[in-house]
Formats: sequence, structure tokens, C-alpha cells
Amino acid sequence: FEVLWDAAAAEKGGFPSFMEKEINEQPAAVEQTLMGRTDPDGNLVLDELKIDESVLRAVDKIVVVACGTAAYAGQVARYAIEHWCRIPTEVELAHEFRYRDPIVNERTLVVALSQSGETMDTLMAVRHAQEQGAKVVAICNTNGSTIPREADAALYTHAGPEIAVASTKAFLAQITAAYLLGLYLAQLRGNKYKDEIAGILAELEAMPAKIQQVIDAQAAVKDLAQSMKDAASVLFLGRHVGYPVALEGALKLKELAYIHAEGFAAGELKHGPIALIEEGQPVFVIVPSPRGRDSLHAKVVSNIQEIRARGAVTIVIAEEGDEAVADYANHIFRVPQSPVLLQPLLTTVPLQIFACELATAKGYDVDQPRNLAKSVTVE
Ligand code: AGP
Repeated sequence: FEVLWDAAAAEKGGFPSFMEKEINEQPAAVEQTLMGRTDPDGNLVLDELKIDESVLRAVDKIVVVACGTAAYAGQVARYAIEHWCRIPTEVELAHEFRYRDPIVNERTLVVALSQSGETMDTLMAVRHAQEQGAKVVAICNTNGSTIPREADAALYTHAGPEIAVASTKAFLAQITAAYLLGLYLAQLRGNKYKDEIAGILAELEAMPAKIQQVIDAQAAVKDLAQSMKDAASVLFLGRHVGYPVALEGALKLKELAYIHAEGFAAGELKHGPIALIEEGQPVFVIVPSPRGRDSLHAKVVSNIQEIRARGAVTIVIAEEGDEAVADYANHIFRVPQSPVLLQPLLTTVPLQIFACELATAKGYDVDQPRNLAKSVTVE
């Protein structure tokens, strides 16, 4: 039995679960996904993108199709792709996309995000898009799987095999690959952000070390998770790129700890959700960089103030040096400073650790949560 136990432990790299191992592998997952995709002059080189450059230049709409965590990766990337490429970019849940009679044609680029490459909902969306004449790029973590095989081109993430059912390292790698695709399109189309690409790539290269800093500070997150293991519901608020991070944080808690959790756009609070706030209600708030579009940061700080005044327990994810949040936070977890659009690579990590630790404190199997499969190969 010891031999089997040792073999399983070795497979988990000495971590108690694949989930924890994969959370800790995220700096490498991002680094490996970036590797080999720029030339010595700092230009993006995506040889694997086997779609004619003239077709990519003619693209007038991008539609990301995906499910679950992959869809949230698409939502994060959408802010970056639209900013850099100036191409209208939509993110659609794959299972909704094909039934809403979408406007798709030969000038539409469909980006299929899928860790497994076998998600039937996403595969059917790919087939539907191709029937309408669109070109499809698959961003996938599994070589040779169905979706990249059927797509017109594949941009692989190199996160390594993701065993835990709940996706972590693949999520950060998907965001990274989608950033690269957006930068490549901006470079190809020579628009106004062309000169910024080298700087953004340099910032991306610096992210693995910053992700490691967040992981190194995980003890405090784990302590909070253990203290909150009996929470009945947890809310997550975010704005701009922090909004899909809030959605992903809520999904992690749902699928690992089986707790009701919901992510909201912070600006939506006053349109209803603030009615949920009562004494002791835990609320995570992902705070935008104060160096971003200034009004966003100030608005989120006032959101924290509003919910704190109504009794919420505010758990704030904020940049190092951002002291504006201190007065209204019951707990603060810091992330290193980074460009606004790249911040999700950092702010997601404490939420993953929190969900994993809280589920562990409840005695649940974080690698194989109830009712879930690693790849949903049925519609
Ligand atoms: C992620 O934590 C979930 N297990 C699930 O939402 C997953 O992201 C979704 O099923 C999509 O899977 P894919 O990336 O393999 O297509």
C-alpha cells in the first residue's frame, strides 16, 4: 500500500492534491505558453496560426466560444483583444452560441477556448461557425484533441496535463494564449498599438515571477478559508477585467466546496444585488489597479464602502501600495503591481487557493468534485 501511496504522492509532486499541485504550477504554465513565440527582435511569431494573413487582416468580428472557466478566460481576454486590435469581440457560451442564430460569416474569426479540446458544446459551436464560413482558431491544452483537429488553426497552451477537474493552470494559460493572439492580430494589422506590443510582451514575460509572489503568500489565504469553512454563501465583485475574475472565483467555490457563490459586476450592485448584503455576508472584491482608468478604482473603493456599511465582511484583492482600500477591508490580500489588462493572471490566484483550502477544510475531494467530469463530452 505504501508503494501505491508513494506513487500517487509522487504523481502529485508531493502536494496533497493535483489541484494544489496545479495551482503551484501556474508560473511555469504561463512561462511555457509564452516560450518560443517571439523572435529576437521582440516580434510575435505564431507559426502555428495556419490562417492566411489576408484572411486575418479582413476579420471584422471576433467571437470567442467556450464553456465554464474557459468562457471566463475568454471574457478576460476580450478586454485586451478589443483594446489592442480594435476589432469588435464577443464572448459566447458555446451551448448558447449555436442556438441563437448568430451573425457569423467569412469575416468572422471564431476563437474556441478549451483545455480538453473535447467539450461537445464547444465542438458543436466550432462546426456551426465553420458551416457559416468563419475561420476558427482553437486555443487548447491537449495536443491532437478533436477541437484543434477540426479548427482551421490551433494555438496550444503549454500548461502540462491538468488532472484536477476544476481548472486552474489551464485558465491562466488560456488567458496568456489569448493575449498572444490579440497582440499578434494587432501586429499583423499594424494598428496604433503596434508600438506597444514589445512593452506588453515584456510585461507578460514578468508575470510568472509575479504569480509566484502571490503563491508564496498563500498561507494567509488558507487561514481565512479555514476560518470560513461554514460560510453559507460568498459573493464576488469585480469591474472591467476583474468582473470575469469574480465569476471564476465564484465558480471555483461552487465546484469545489459546493457553496452558493455568485460573481457580479461591481457596478451592478445598486441595481439589485446589494439587497443580498446583510451582517456577516462574506464578499470578495477584486480591486482594479489604481494606475488604470482612475474612475474605475475609485468606484470600486466606494462599492467596498457601501457593502461594509451594510455589514459585509469585505475580503479585498488589491495591488501592493493601494492604501485607499485599507479603511473598508476586513481582509486584504495583495498582488504585485501589473498592467491593468494583465492583472487577472494575479488576482485569480488567491481565489483559487481560497476555494481549494475551504473545500479541503470541509473534507471534500478537491481533485474529483461530486457530479463533475474533467471534460464534458456530451451536450
Ligand atoms: C472548470 O473549473 C470546469 N471544470 C469547467 O467549467 C470547464 O472549464 C469547462 O467544462 C470547459 O472545459 P474545456 O476547457 O475542457 O473545454
